[in-house]
Amino acid sequence: MEPMSDIETVKIDLGERAYSVVVGHGAVGHVADLIPQGVQRIALVTQESVPPQFRPTITGVHTSVHFIGEGESFKTLGTIERLCSEFARQGLTRKDLVIAVGGGMVTDVAGFAAASYHRGISVIHVATSLLAMIDAAIGGKTGVNLVEGKNLVGAFWQPSGVVCDLDALASLPAREMECGLGEMAKYHFIVREDLNALPFPSRVARCVGIKGEIVAADEREGGIRAFLNYGHTLAHALEIETDFSIAHGEAVALGVLFAAHLGRALGRIDDVRVEEHYHVIREVYGLKITVPKGLGIDALIAAMGRDKKAVDSLTFVLDASSGLEVVSDVSVEAIKQAYAEFTSRNS
Ligand code: GLY
Repeated sequence: MEPMSDIETVKIDLGERAYSVVVGHGAVGHVADLIPQGVQRIALVTQESVPPQFRPTITGVHTSVHFIGEGESFKTLGTIERLCSEFARQGLTRKDLVIAVGGGMVTDVAGFAAASYHRGISVIHVATSLLAMIDAAIGGKTGVNLVEGKNLVGAFWQPSGVVCDLDALASLPAREMECGLGEMAKYHFIVREDLNALPFPSRVARCVGIKGEIVAADEREGGIRAFLNYGHTLAHALEIETDFSIAHGEAVALGVLFAAHLGRALGRIDDVRVEEHYHVIREVYGLKITVPKGLGIDALIAAMGRDKKAVDSLTFVLDASSGLEVVSDVSVEAIKQAYAEFTSRNS
């Protein structure tokens, strides 16, 4: 990591597809430095709700602006088709560039449109939500939903660069900020470092760096990339069983606490480590989310079994004194015991 005044640059080390992530206040001013040679046209993809000051102005290059709808219902193949048609009408060629400006939905959709158009053109992400900065915009996962499930169609498509302009967080709705903090809390358990000791901008940069190291080691999620899903097995089930009224980052915050209880039920971690989980979620990040009412453990277990990230029906990423591991064949009894303990503390 290279400090440049109050801007930090993190390198994602993917060989010939390596790229920089620029983090800091006013970082959007650095987009021009990330643009590949030979770009003549830029298609900037954003949403109406994203403040226009985070759209970079690139001199000497024709830029068209393309809006996508707000909400998961627009995260579809229909939106990809529309964007690609608009790119074609703007005359974008294989050498041109997409710039995504927004949160995770924008970077997922614009990234997939870039991956598909002309079989793949360059994309730069300008992340404006905390969740996009520390997760969605980094690592090349792009995609859209089908009616059958979330993110079922997509591509691994690494960006040419990413910008995390921390000024964007000032206008982020409180609930979206909480969602980002839920994902940030997860990183405390992926590495055993005192992330609390870092000032917030450096903590964002460190989370980007941790994700970058994992992606560089396992780009296609054959192994340790699954650690980024710590807390996500229950989180996805909570999202499904509440019809998405609980937001992703809120569900992750709860899922991380449940994973701690499950780790303890299986004898992998002790009470002290469980309390560390509560300390990070509740005290460090102030996330006091409670378990939504009326959920049955049997329905949650069924939903966890359908989770596309599960290797088999009852697989979790769990903590241990040696760090996170993917644990298969977790018994229903252990899940039920952990869930009872978890709900008694979080209702
Ligand atoms: N969001 C998890 C990953 O990028 O692998």
